[in-house]
Amino acid sequence: MGFQKLNDRFILEQSDNIVDLIECYDLGNCPVYVYDIDGLDQRISEFKNVVPPNTEIHYALKANCNKHVLQSIKSQGVGLDVVSGGELKQGLEAGFKASDIVFSGVGKTVNEIELAINEGVKQINVESVQELERICFLSRKLNKPINVAFRMNPDVDAKTHPYITTGFRENKFGMDFLEISNLVEILKNNKNVHLSGLTMHIGSQLRDIKPLEDATKRLLSLWDELISQGHKLETLDLGGGLGIDYKDSTESDLANIQLYGEMLKSLLKDFNGRIILEPGRILVARFGALITKIQYIKENRFKNFAIVDTGMHHLMRPCLYQAYHRIIPLKFDSSHASDEKLYDIVGPICESSDVLGKDRLMGHLRQDDYLAVCDVGAYGHVMANNYNTHGLPIELAYSKGQLLK
Ligand code: LLP
Repeated sequence: MGFQKLNDRFILEQSDNIVDLIECYDLGNCPVYVYDIDGLDQRISEFKNVVPPNTEIHYALKANCNKHVLQSIKSQGVGLDVVSGGELKQGLEAGFKASDIVFSGVGKTVNEIELAINEGVKQINVESVQELERICFLSRKLNKPINVAFRMNPDVDAKTHPYITTGFRENKFGMDFLEISNLVEILKNNKNVHLSGLTMHIGSQLRDIKPLEDATKRLLSLWDELISQGHKLETLDLGGGLGIDYKDSTESDLANIQLYGEMLKSLLKDFNGRIILEPGRILVARFGALITKIQYIKENRFKNFAIVDTGMHHLMRPCLYQAYHRIIPLKFDSSHASDEKLYDIVGPICESSDVLGKDRLMGHLRQDDYLAVCDVGAYGHVMANNYNTHGLPIELAYSKGQLLK
């Protein structure tokens, strides 16, 4: 079974296969995250094709660390961006070379920094003066060199949900541009620590690329200033953040990817360092669906509820960010299509925030029907927890019609 496009049409075409598969897996295992690896492969190529040629792509592993997803990323020569010692180990175990891994994150501990230095990551993206001092101390102690890039806070409004805005002056991420002389001073006495470049990440699910453009310009002007002072910088890391239209299907992504690539090419046409990008969502979001089974239909005078076997514990995005995900019935009996109603698709968790979709117009739903929650390939399973002591959903991946082992 191919699972190429998780748009409405495709899911419905393939739904019998998905449901058959889940049934043969024993219903006790439902809900299931299903990944389309062929779609992901294609998306990585699409992304690579539009970015400037001197770009090194480092997939943000936090979006989805499924082993088949990581295999697809690695097979296309893409590196990783990680934000914890755990993610760093996961990347190494998946076969990535340390020299292809960028280590970001605002709260790196001594153990995590030691691990990064000992493994020899490509660069540590530094988030504070104290972190730089800690890196200097540890590289001296271990007597090993390390590359660092300064993560700057360009103070732009990324126009996304406040919880995933990271490049505004009030956010904990990155450093004030005024800090730069302090940072450079610290490095003067620490020859093991090499300043390889500058980095930023202004937020996630960015639908407007103007803030990215503004922030890149600011970072470039700091780059030029440092170069003019004699620093030999190599990498300009522009982070991730490109978003998708969750209300629309996969096709709408391409135009946005194209715009992003053009913006980078025009802004960086005279740039002769190496560009690093850290995309997460734009690569993987579309290629995951969460398949769930309706346990009960409950109707009262005001509402129709479809109570399913998954919820905010398995997919936090709707409850945490009021995020919209398309929800599509599988194996839908078209004779019920005329009987449309508004449903709230809700989970089993003992909280009223446990809503996956509100007021969704759907044909008559029944107990034991399956639903696909779409576009959950990014920040889906990685954020799942077992609140109320439910189990975690299983994950299945497909390529070339085969279930991957
Ligand atoms: N680089 C850094 C340093 C990051 O912190 C992130 C994401 C990325 C790259 C990748 O960003 P992306 O291309 O995926 O937007 N849980 C939220 C998203 C949190 C993003 C955190 N940082 C959600 O479900 O929307």
